[in-house]
Amino acid sequence: MKIRVYKSAAPAVRSTINGTPTVLFFGDCMRLIGRMPDNSVDLTITSPNYCMGKEYETSRSVEDFIAAHKVILPEIVRITKEGGSICWQVGYHVRSRCVYPLDYAVFSILADIEGIVLRNRVIWTFGHGMHGFARFSGRHETVLWFTKGSDYHFDLDAVRVPQKYPGKRHFRGPHKGEFSGNPKGKNPGDVWEIPNVKGSHTEKLDHPCQFPVGLADRFVRALCPQDGIVFDPHMGTSSTGVGAIINGRRFLGAEINEKYETIAHSRLLKAYDGTVPVRPADRPLYVPSAGDSVARRPKHFATEEAQA
Ligand SMILES: C[S@@+](CC[C@H](N)C(=O)[O-])C[C@H]1O[C@@H](n2cnc3c(N)ncnc32)[C@H](O)[C@@H]1O
Repeated sequence: MKIRVYKSAAPAVRSTINGTPTVLFFGDCMRLIGRMPDNSVDLTITSPNYCMGKEYETSRSVEDFIAAHKVILPEIVRITKEGGSICWQVGYHVRSRCVYPLDYAVFSILADIEGIVLRNRVIWTFGHGMHGFARFSGRHETVLWFTKGSDYHFDLDAVRVPQKYPGKRHFRGPHKGEFSGNPKGKNPGDVWEIPNVKGSHTEKLDHPCQFPVGLADRFVRALCPQDGIVFDPHMGTSSTGVGAIINGRRFLGAEINEKYETIAHSRLLKAYDGTVPVRPADRPLYVPSAGDSVARRPKHFATEEAQA
């Protein structure tokens, strides 16, 4: 059996660490985390509630976000192995046109914990979303990557992307004339353009806030050792779990909403049998050709420009 589902926390923890590669806990993640041993998880990747009134949220207050994080983050640090990583994906809390960057709160809490170090603030940028009228349209969110301790697992070669100019050569110095790029590819940098999961996206399921598997996949490959355990306390449809399973890592996830937990379970079964749809992070973005109907300017654009 590759996946076990529990409604009681204790066996979930034992099972993941000792045997079954994937364990799902249906319930409040704090009930699960409270029973997890110290130093037991290699990598946590998660996206919590933003308190923005989504169908699965009960609070609309940034104060509640901060209060909940003052409780959960020290616990996530406790269960993270020395050298392990914490990737916390958040966006912005917006109320009455006032914007609060939620990673500011996450950073403030974690930076106060001894031994926790921020390694990157990854900007996840995407092309689609709500159109702003009183401010610029939001087209990015962030992932804060922290490590526990300074001797941490980071496999850059596992996530290199193709060189933009592979034929480039050193133009001076002792290697003048030789190719300058790393044949294994280049570092993907800290700005990741990955389409968000909306509309006809191949990964879209019945959840309002999925993040793309490509986002989790890159962190899993870079930050989790081959035999390691990946944890997502706010699993949703388990995009993190898919990223872990397709890369052969063990996975532990919690979800409080029964509908999403059911979706996650069937999705992870597909990840095991190799049928789960995934859009790789480094697949080039779709660019319509000049002849495509979406690329053609409608006649009324010209009229409105003339009137402006
Ligand atoms: C932003 S969504 C995560 C979506 C996920 N990254 C995905 O790709 O599908 C947050 C999820 O956390 C769940 N959640 C919120 N509070 C929770 C808690 N205390 N314990 C477990 N799950 C929780 C919500 O039901 C929601 O599905």
